[in-house]
Amino acid sequence: MRLSLDFGYCQKFIDDQSVKGLVSKAVQASQSLQDKTGKGNDFLGWLDLPERMQEQVTRIQSLADRIRANSEVLVVIGIGGSYLGAKSGLAFLQHHFSNELPAEKRGGPAIYFAGTNMSPQYLKDLMALIGDRDFSLNVISKSGTTTEPAIAFRFLKEKLEDKYGSTGLKDRIFLTTDPERGALTAMSEQTGYEKLVIDPHVGGRFSVLSPVGLLPFAVAGINIAELLEGARAAMNDVALPYEENPMLQYAVMRNHLYAAGFKIEMMVNYEPRLQYIAEWWKQLYGESEGKEHKGIFPASASYTTDLHSLGQYVQDGERHLFQTVLHLEESGADMVIGSNESDLDKLNYLAGKPLDYVNKKAEEGTLEAHYSGGVPNMIIKIKRADTLSLGYLFYFFEYACGVSAYMLDVNPFDQPGVEAYKSNMFRLLGKPNV
Ligand code: PA5
Repeated sequence: MRLSLDFGYCQKFIDDQSVKGLVSKAVQASQSLQDKTGKGNDFLGWLDLPERMQEQVTRIQSLADRIRANSEVLVVIGIGGSYLGAKSGLAFLQHHFSNELPAEKRGGPAIYFAGTNMSPQYLKDLMALIGDRDFSLNVISKSGTTTEPAIAFRFLKEKLEDKYGSTGLKDRIFLTTDPERGALTAMSEQTGYEKLVIDPHVGGRFSVLSPVGLLPFAVAGINIAELLEGARAAMNDVALPYEENPMLQYAVMRNHLYAAGFKIEMMVNYEPRLQYIAEWWKQLYGESEGKEHKGIFPASASYTTDLHSLGQYVQDGERHLFQTVLHLEESGADMVIGSNESDLDKLNYLAGKPLDYVNKKAEEGTLEAHYSGGVPNMIIKIKRADTLSLGYLFYFFEYACGVSAYMLDVNPFDQPGVEAYKSNMFRLLGKPNV
């Protein structure tokens, strides 16, 4: 197992009787996922993606190799579930400043994201940053109709056409979309742009282990076969009994805390590479569970940075939140604090200590303080930031999300609430036929 859960800093909030009831609910929920008898059961294609995607690894890798060979930059265009998985996985595995490294050190194209907002300044800055460099586009939209990526694509395609002419586009545009429907499918049919398919039975936020995540990962040089292997390990673990099953344990504990009045879950990290995992998780859980006026509100914080901003509230504010700490056992690098004769900065008491030791002590001290201040804390322990762990983590959170939402009796796989703003926006913009 590539991760484990620790409820030590949660203990005083645990009511064994209530947990027992929730365990059987979680087991039932898991069974409904496996039997495909629960709400939204038409969207369970993600359950076996780690197995099914193996046969696509060769094609995805060869498309990625083409991009790696002809591009200094890849722009991934997408939003929500068509963006956050790739972004979070790259942040988890890559050098913190990957895009700023010289190309030979990075070992692949710089990867930027577009279509995640409608800011003209963002797009202008991105296009200026690409400048004269060779680039390609991976447009990801399951529906093929989402406004933000469609607009970004229009601008970036123009830039591509200016540089390579209309005949050069075929080598540089990669569309990831529905097999049959939507504007991108029609475009691919008319132009011959390379197309990668998202299974129609996989919702956007559950799609990271499909070409949605796999193509950008492969372009970055990440071993996607290994990523799927990590995910398959989690897939096999779903059958474990509760005592050994982290997915069920996580779903049970967060529902237990929710029922006890803790309505906000804050995903906390002490390593910046985990920050985007929390962003991906927020969308996965927020969009899956926030329905029928129910659902834990998913929030996140990056410590120790946010101990200097949100720390006061967490310690002392309203008692309605619990924390889930993503704990990386091995930081990946270490730096030992040196000794200094003058000790003007008064840090000699730490001389000889690895920086990771200091970070871990900050974590421990914070856990103790928040726990005694009335905040329950779960810890998800991940061994190290490697490809196998990432695959496991993605599947772990997806499966626990399905179980948790079924425990709340909501459909995890629809998102009726995101339509309201869109129809207002289209009306205000004068879009025809809405
Ligand atoms: O999880 C979801 O379904 C959404 O967040 C979508 O991924 C997001 O709205 C983008 O949709 P599309 O891929 O159709 O452009």
